[in-house]
Amino acid sequence: MIQNHSESENAYITLDRAALKAVLEACLAETELLSLRERISAYRTVVASLPAVPQTLNAPPDPDAVALQRDAFLSELDQILAARTVRRATYYLSRLEKGIGEARRGAVNDINLNRWKEYDEVLTDSLWVMDRRDTSGAHRAWYWGNFIPQIPRQLMLRYTKAEDWVLDPFAGSGTTMIECRRLGRHGIGVELNPDVAAHAAEAMASEPNPFSITTDIVVGDSATVDYDAILASHAIKDVQLLILHPPYHDIIQFSRHSADLSNAATVESFVNRFAVVVERARAVLAPQRYLAVVIGDKYQDGEWIPLGFQAMQAVMAQGCTLKSIVVKNLHRTRAKREQQALWRYRALVGGFYVFKHEYIFVFQTP
Ligand SMILES: C[S@@+](CC[C@H](N)C(=O)[O-])C[C@H]1O[C@@H](n2cnc3c(N)ncnc32)[C@H](O)[C@@H]1O
Repeated sequence: MIQNHSESENAYITLDRAALKAVLEACLAETELLSLRERISAYRTVVASLPAVPQTLNAPPDPDAVALQRDAFLSELDQILAARTVRRATYYLSRLEKGIGEARRGAVNDINLNRWKEYDEVLTDSLWVMDRRDTSGAHRAWYWGNFIPQIPRQLMLRYTKAEDWVLDPFAGSGTTMIECRRLGRHGIGVELNPDVAAHAAEAMASEPNPFSITTDIVVGDSATVDYDAILASHAIKDVQLLILHPPYHDIIQFSRHSADLSNAATVESFVNRFAVVVERARAVLAPQRYLAVVIGDKYQDGEWIPLGFQAMQAVMAQGCTLKSIVVKNLHRTRAKREQQALWRYRALVGGFYVFKHEYIFVFQTP
């Protein structure tokens, strides 16, 4: 289960790399446990007094400095202090030295696996309970049917590296693109509704662009749009992550446009049309990369329709490997809160449970 990112988890100290290395080497040269402990203890006092600042995972690296999560670093020093033999202490010291040395990055992300304990923000559990929507910056939550920014953020942290390209074929209010700007990933969104796309482009442009990356929203039908041409206009041939957040069939009618997936006549036609979008967008996804589908179920004529699983099956039928089924709590908007009592009554009468979750299906392509 996830919590919101706590302050201490995000408190980083910056140390001079050469000085830190010198301290660790001096400690490693010690042969007496007592004097080794004295050195570590003195260093710990210095470290604990340093000012800590929040840090984003994608901050540009400084070769002369090493940014360490304060609490994780202090607990590593404590572990060395608690060692009962020089040999054990040396083992912990060597591990620490390795951790601050060369970074060992993930295959599809920038996570330094030598310091994996510090990435508290990056989720690895399949249940996401998010109490608060991130409303900072250009995220305004003006669009009914948007997703919370933490969803694309988490996906990008796990499945992209800095300056990778992300494609969102159901861009809506541009949440993915705004988050791209924050994380330093390039982003392309396709949105059918020109008014929504214009509004999204405006919001996107109002978000600072510290990494000077490209974000673009194209007006079009994601089932027929020419992805190759869109990519060519940015001088690229493929993207590294697909995020798809389609309508949950007709739960919200986004427009009257016949190409709008929320106007699909039946569930079957919705799933088939969604599969076409996946197939077309996948053609520009680099091999062995990830695609994520964010979708919920629906209730119709007294029956729970497992839209999510149907969409999941459609993607699996295309040869994609299912990597995870994440269950996320449904965010309570003001409108939903007002309807809650009514839904509870209906549930009691109708013998069903009220939707409180949606899915994030994560796949990897061959
Ligand atoms: C669930 S919303 C996506 C919301 C988005 N993730 C956000 O945070 O704002 C689905 C979007 O898909 C758009 N849409 C529906 N059918 C489409 C199609 N065939 N091509 C492109 N966009 C489509 C709708 O207009 C709607 O904005």
